Amino acid sequence: MRIPETLRRRLSEAVELLDTTAGRGYPVQVVSHNDADGITAAAVLHSALQRAGYPCVTRCVKQLDSGVVEELAAGEGLIIFTDLGSGQLHAINRLLSRRHVIVLDHHQPVEEEVSKGCHVNAHLHGIDGAREVSGAGMAYLFAREVCECPHLSALAIVGAVGDLQDSQGVFSGINREIIEEGEAAGVLRVEKDLRLFGRQTRPLYKALEYTTDPFLPGLSGDERSCIDFLRELDIPVKRDERYVMLADLTPEERQRLTTALILRMMENRIPPQVAESIVGEVVTLIQEEKRTPLRDAKEFATLMNACGKYEHTGMGVAVCLGDRGEIYRRSLGMLRNHREYLSRCFAWVTSNLDRVRDEGVVYALHAGEDISDAVIGTVAGMLLSSRALPELKPVLAFACTDDGAVKVSARATKELVESGINLGKAILAAAERVGGEGGGHDIAAGAKIQRGTEEEFLRAMVSELGRQWDAKG
Ligand code: C5P
Ligand code: C5P
Ligand code: ZN
Repeated sequence: MRIPETLRRRLSEAVELLDTTAGRGYPVQVVSHNDADGITAAAVLHSALQRAGYPCVTRCVKQLDSGVVEELAAGEGLIIFTDLGSGQLHAINRLLSRRHVIVLDHHQPVEEEVSKGCHVNAHLHGIDGAREVSGAGMAYLFAREVCECPHLSALAIVGAVGDLQDSQGVFSGINREIIEEGEAAGVLRVEKDLRLFGRQTRPLYKALEYTTDPFLPGLSGDERSCIDFLRELDIPVKRDERYVMLADLTPEERQRLTTALILRMMENRIPPQVAESIVGEVVTLIQEEKRTPLRDAKEFATLMNACGKYEHTGMGVAVCLGDRGEIYRRSLGMLRNHREYLSRCFAWVTSNLDRVRDEGVVYALHAGEDISDAVIGTVAGMLLSSRALPELKPVLAFACTDDGAVKVSARATKELVESGINLGKAILAAAERVGGEGGGHDIAAGAKIQRGTEEEFLRAMVSELGRQWDAKG
């Protein structure tokens, strides 16, 4: 695998720290994020550590806030943070000074060093952590130094897909290297196809209905139109009494559908680049059973996000580690609920566009109690990719949390990032201004702030983003 020499050295240091600190009577504590990338990252580490003979305990958290760090401070032994940590080094260094710590992350780092341990972050080695490697990818780079585990590359790619690192239709950088290892190990296959949602498990008309990135004008969210659209293209909804899935189409049907979709998007003012991103690399986990959500990387990632949303990340990790019994069955139930909930959210967004405020450099929407904070980021992404808003600018979405605070999610596009926008940096500054906690990537970021501070936070965001625009000129 081609990885920068400085990163290779950092990974060796981390493995050395594991060797010297683990096995002193305390299990290694793995702490990860509760989304698809975080859950797969946790599973990669858990699996590799067990294989190498290191006992470990694994948990996934919504956010690494000071409360969680303080709780960890009371424990003993090595902690490995993955898919989070780089934005919280200040709290880690201040509160966890007794414990050894390894951070394996791809978020934009706030500080560079861990005072007692090892900080391994993609950005510190010239790698773009928003596109070229995910948290699960960073965990995999570490895992493959701990033991022989090329099969775990499949989970690493599910993590990358969960973080939408394939949104341009190609995998690049470290993700590409990981894919090559997975192909060589016979666990995955990459091919060009339509990037519709639910290739393996959804009737094609449903896959069209549920695809929102890119947004399919007149089709996304509208079942009747999807059925009519396929009929006009002479593609049957059912064949031999079975629903036709994307995976079942003949090459000619696939071609017909592709051309028609791209044309429809372009007729609806969607830029050609975005329209063409409907075709791209899709990953099949070839050792998984056909027509199950585990077979397609995107569906696998959604299954993990469902586990995260319902706070059953342990179930997600168990499925990643191979459970195909009762736990897997229960996770499928959560997936169904999650999908239904997302489609309700989508309907809510499209019928509440009047609640979106145009704040000049950014659009803002406060969903209050109407949308769960667990999916407010997904909803911000839907709003952005729906192109329902007149201009292309970043979207900020707020939702109340159960513990009386407010969750904020920000989403941008590649074009906006190229024109100088860095949401992670802006949100870090704005959250600090109101005494909250935030961070993330240039293209997607989040924060948690106190109720009542939304307006001040928004003003700070507008001024930060304005500065970013001006700096780029
Ligand atoms: O915490 P983490 O890094 O796992 O999350 C990354 C987030 O960024 C995901 O929620 C993903 O959906 C979002 N993202 C996005 N658009 C992109 C890339 C990432 O909304 N192009
Ligand atoms: O929660 P959401 O999906 O909006 O998060 C977008 C990105 O911002 C994720 O990568 C997430 O890890 C990051 N984030 C963060 N600090 C927070 C909230 C989110 O770094 N307090
Ligand atoms: Zn991640």
